[in-house]
Amino acid sequence: MALLLGIETSCDETAAAVVEDGVHIRGERVSSQIDLHARFGGVIPEVASRSHLEVLFPLIEDTLAAARLTWDDLDGLAVTTTPGLVGCLLVGLSAAKGLQLATGLPLVGVNHVHAHIYGALMPALERAQRDQGPPVTWPLASLVVSGGHTSLYESRSVSEHRLVGRTIDDAAGEAYDKVAAILGLEYPGGPVIDRLAQTGNPNAFALPRPRPKDGSLSFSFSGLKTAVLYAARGGQHRTQLRDDLSPADLAASFQAAVVDVLSDRLQQCARTIGARGLVICGGVAANSALRARAEGLAGDLGLPLHLPPLALATDNAVMIAGLGFHAFEAGHMADLTLDAAPRAD
Ligand code: KG4
Ligand code: ZN
Repeated sequence: MALLLGIETSCDETAAAVVEDGVHIRGERVSSQIDLHARFGGVIPEVASRSHLEVLFPLIEDTLAAARLTWDDLDGLAVTTTPGLVGCLLVGLSAAKGLQLATGLPLVGVNHVHAHIYGALMPALERAQRDQGPPVTWPLASLVVSGGHTSLYESRSVSEHRLVGRTIDDAAGEAYDKVAAILGLEYPGGPVIDRLAQTGNPNAFALPRPRPKDGSLSFSFSGLKTAVLYAARGGQHRTQLRDDLSPADLAASFQAAVVDVLSDRLQQCARTIGARGLVICGGVAANSALRARAEGLAGDLGLPLHLPPLALATDNAVMIAGLGFHAFEAGHMADLTLDAAPRAD
């Protein structure tokens, strides 16, 4: 049995968790900075890293207390090193190195995007470990869709992920946040638009669903965002929202376009790589329409679908400690030269 403490500070959530053998959550805490950044309509890196610094150590202590564990019970430390806001990553990494020195515990570095994929697989891995479910079958077509990423991977194991497509401009979550801003809704936009869309007509506005001409697996959301802006204002040269605008109809039409594009590219990816399962993860994996569509797609393709439990869709440290366990088992320990990198691929 191995207990790992995971630390996550790559963006605007400070998170810590203790996970046993990569799958059993013993304690977890997430402190969101949403309120800090809401008035700016997006994450301000400097504000985010300062907040991580204030929050992280009490949060770790609280996580251990919630798990009824002490430092002596732990077997290792796992920390996000890439990708993310570099100042934010450095706060978590420096804390982890300090803890490594102070406790003598081994440290492993974890890729945040790979950890999102792992978070979606955790329920299946946990069931398989208890002999209550089949093993995960590889390769997987993995769609990572969040505020910072919209990428497709061919996943060959928990730690091997080959990038096969990505957005050429905005991430899908970023498009949600920008569309919410256009409609004067609160930040982050994803959950608000998701709720509003449920009361609107998804066919009310004809919005673009761009498909790469070269047949590649890339995404583009900036044209869709501009189309939403013009639709909301009733024309390219207007500066105010239309008086007769139904925000629910526009939200529903926007969401339908995003879900169409994401599921189209995921299906294409699954076909291209001969996938034996589908993964959707990252903050946008919390989206109700995307989850419903993905279930339909998996049913049509006859493939298992791995979605993270809602609490593991957005940033958390459970997925970091979980994936970290596999690096730990493989003996991929880091030393004090371990560095943070804003970009991973
Ligand atoms: O993974 P995450 O917590 O942080 C990043 O690594 O970006 O994802 C946050 C993003 C935000 O853009 C947020 O608007 C979006 O995920 N999001 C959603 C939903 N919940 C969160 N987007 C669509 N529908 C949702 N229900
Ligand atoms: Zn994330």
